[in-house]
Amino acid sequence: MERESARYGIVGVGMMGREHMINLAHLRSEGAIVTCVADPHPSSLQLALDLARSLDAPPLVVFSGHQQLLDSGLCDVVVVSSPNMTHFEILMDIINHQKPHHILVEKPLCTTVENCRKVINAAKQRPDIIVQVGLEYRYMPPVSKLINIVKSGTLGHIKMVAIREHRFPFLVKVDNWNRFNVNTGGTLVEKCCHFFDLMRLFAAANPVRVMASGSIDVNHKDEVYDGKVPDIIDNAYVIVEFDNGSRGMLDLCMFAEGSKNEQEISVVGDIGKGEAFVPESIVRVGLRSEGRTGVKTEIANDERIKYDGLHHGSSYLEHLNFLSVIKGEGIGAPAVSLIDGLLSVAMGVAAQLSIEKGHFVTIQEILED
Ligand SMILES: NC(=O)c1ccc[n+]([C@@H]2O[C@H](COP(=O)([O-])OP(=O)(O)OC[C@H]3O[C@@H](n4cnc5c(N)ncnc54)[C@H](O)[C@@H]3O)[C@@H](O)[C@H]2O)c1
Repeated sequence: MERESARYGIVGVGMMGREHMINLAHLRSEGAIVTCVADPHPSSLQLALDLARSLDAPPLVVFSGHQQLLDSGLCDVVVVSSPNMTHFEILMDIINHQKPHHILVEKPLCTTVENCRKVINAAKQRPDIIVQVGLEYRYMPPVSKLINIVKSGTLGHIKMVAIREHRFPFLVKVDNWNRFNVNTGGTLVEKCCHFFDLMRLFAAANPVRVMASGSIDVNHKDEVYDGKVPDIIDNAYVIVEFDNGSRGMLDLCMFAEGSKNEQEISVVGDIGKGEAFVPESIVRVGLRSEGRTGVKTEIANDERIKYDGLHHGSSYLEHLNFLSVIKGEGIGAPAVSLIDGLLSVAMGVAAQLSIEKGHFVTIQEILED
């Protein structure tokens, strides 16, 4: 690949694939060019073509499958933004392809731990390929600001990480793939891998065991697809214990449109407490020694963001970081590794299983299964 430019192919141009196209268009001056896309759904391809035109982007070559895209030689980097259950096969085909392609794969890495492991093993054979997992919540300005505060030691040793996501129900997707656990990996894998990833970052530790309670209480109950009613849970509480003694808690509700924030994060150490609010984009920090009156509130902004998009600029920053890694400008390793991807899936799988079994599930049993 030329040092100055990077030719991207996008596999899956539904909502998220087109979001990647827009983000990459904002990185054209940094050398990003989307040359081709692959999607079996003709109307998604048409929307991608229309979008490319509206972005005044170079002509786009379209394919109905990822193998044709890989064989075309038209790209050096592939963004995988197809439905979760397709990630495994697509990743294996990219990694095993004769021509090296760097990969940015949307979360979750795969829907099962076993498939994540197979991808990791295959990638080990290809040191010429950089693979980054799209756990982009790390890049949301208030979240990354809080991560930096925690890393600076201001809050002391982190003991508790509580993440609340209260939001709207899952959106309608192409062919309704997101209505069934078999396709998504389950709600706690599909969407909550983001939060399990953040918990690991804040706690600076790895998970030991997980206990969860959740169910389908409100959403999608009156929907039927090919005779089947959706089986994805719409609310849960998850408790995670980490190997350094810290604890995490996730409070997920997907029928909470009446919320000011979608994510509210609280991280408490033995010296102080930090909070982040999305989309208010606010960070609060207070020390025990200064009490309530000492709590400081700051707005979190990142001047580098040229496009906010659907995720408050995090997709843009994710691409900016990934592009600099593949162009050899930054550190050699991706910011979100395959191991990060695997562990975020393992925590979600453990939580889903804990709901089924009604008891704690260890990460070891999930990883060994
Ligand atoms: N980072 C985030 O916060 C975030 C947000 C939304 C979605 N996602 C992830 O992005 C991915 C896509 O989700 P979406 O919301 O865009 O779904 P979507 O249904 O809008 O789009 C998926 C597209 O992939 C296409 N597709 C299906 N099978 C394919 C295959 N084998 N090869 C190529 N394309 C195929 C579909 O035709 C569709 O156009 C999922 O993995 C999802 O979890 C991530």
